[in-house]
Amino acid sequence: MLDAAGTTAALGWGVIGFGWVARDHAVPGLREAGARLVAVADPDPAARRAARAAGAQAHPDWDALLAAPEVEAVYVATPNHLHRAAVEAAAAAGKPVLCEKPMAGTLADAEAMGAAVRRARIPYGTAFDQRHHPAHGAIRDAVAAGAIGTVTAIRIAYACWLDPGWSADNWRADPTRAGGGALIDLAPHGLDLVHAITGEEVAVLHALTQRRVQPYAVDDGAMLLGRSTGGVLVQLHVAYNCPDGLPRRRLEVVGSTGAIVADRTMGQTPGGTVRRICGRLGLDAPLPVPDAPASPFARQMAAFARWLRRGGDAFDLERDLRLMRLMDAAVRAEPAPCR
Ligand SMILES: NC(=O)c1ccc[n+]([C@@H]2O[C@H](COP(=O)([O-])OP(=O)(O)OC[C@H]3O[C@@H](n4cnc5c(N)ncnc54)[C@H](O)[C@@H]3O)[C@@H](O)[C@H]2O)c1
Repeated sequence: MLDAAGTTAALGWGVIGFGWVARDHAVPGLREAGARLVAVADPDPAARRAARAAGAQAHPDWDALLAAPEVEAVYVATPNHLHRAAVEAAAAAGKPVLCEKPMAGTLADAEAMGAAVRRARIPYGTAFDQRHHPAHGAIRDAVAAGAIGTVTAIRIAYACWLDPGWSADNWRADPTRAGGGALIDLAPHGLDLVHAITGEEVAVLHALTQRRVQPYAVDDGAMLLGRSTGGVLVQLHVAYNCPDGLPRRRLEVVGSTGAIVADRTMGQTPGGTVRRICGRLGLDAPLPVPDAPASPFARQMAAFARWLRRGGDAFDLERDLRLMRLMDAAVRAEPAPCR
């Protein structure tokens, strides 16, 4: 139980798409947050067997899940091209939705989702779990307290190795189902983190992509350059072509009196290290991260339950749509896109 006020205890979740992120991270997270897994919808019989083993009702499609009154909130974790239909169906059923990032594989799908959510007046959030990482919360608080002065730049490397056989059905390498490659998959986390840490959204964005190492038809790397509404410069390197042994999960927040460097905090699990570097002497010291063993997913599920009851800005459809428009415009404006 994460929430001292007990606000997460009773929330009953339905999960649409019971694959890697749902099984390994979201469902353990919602249980850690004190919520209940009620039902799962997934066409894959093995996923439904796993759902039953986890004590949930299991359906081959989402209609029965959405009809169940015990399902009080819906988590969507299908491949990207199915987010739209799942969210539209959940909205028509009047259920609050937490949908995995990217919001959708295309901007048109994301806009349609936004229209469905507004029409149905349901609460909607995109699952940017990393804004709920305990280390990133500590960085946000340190920045707000002036620990590094005026924030001037944020540099993020968030990369992995994703070869074509990464999974039995590697939809991430399929442009029609993923909507893109490393950029659309990994950059949303970093762009959202800029807002989580500084309170400023990225307002201008340029992107260069590459297809350099992996043999598939989506970008396997991208470099993005942006600027927040208040002038923070943002550099993101995302990739599917980075060997796992290299440093590839790093977040740097640079300020006028110091910097904060986080290693191995970007990702689905708690942990990693955070240091504050003094701008005058160059000395560094660990930045205390509250003793919070909870995973980013557990904290995200707890935050969503709290948000349903109390509101606030932890989740924001319009902010998520602005992020999708920004990425879409950056990809469309890329000079000589990679082929
Ligand atoms: N926040 C994060 O850190 C994070 C990490 C991984 C994945 N994701 C996102 O989560 C989503 C799922 O990714 P994944 O790695 O778990 O993929 P996955 O392929 O492991 O799982 C997807 C599941 O969806 C199911 N599915 C397919 N069609 C369906 C349908 N019509 N109805 C219901 N279920 C259906 C598949 O059978 C599969 O079980 C993607 O949008 C991805 O970008 C987010």
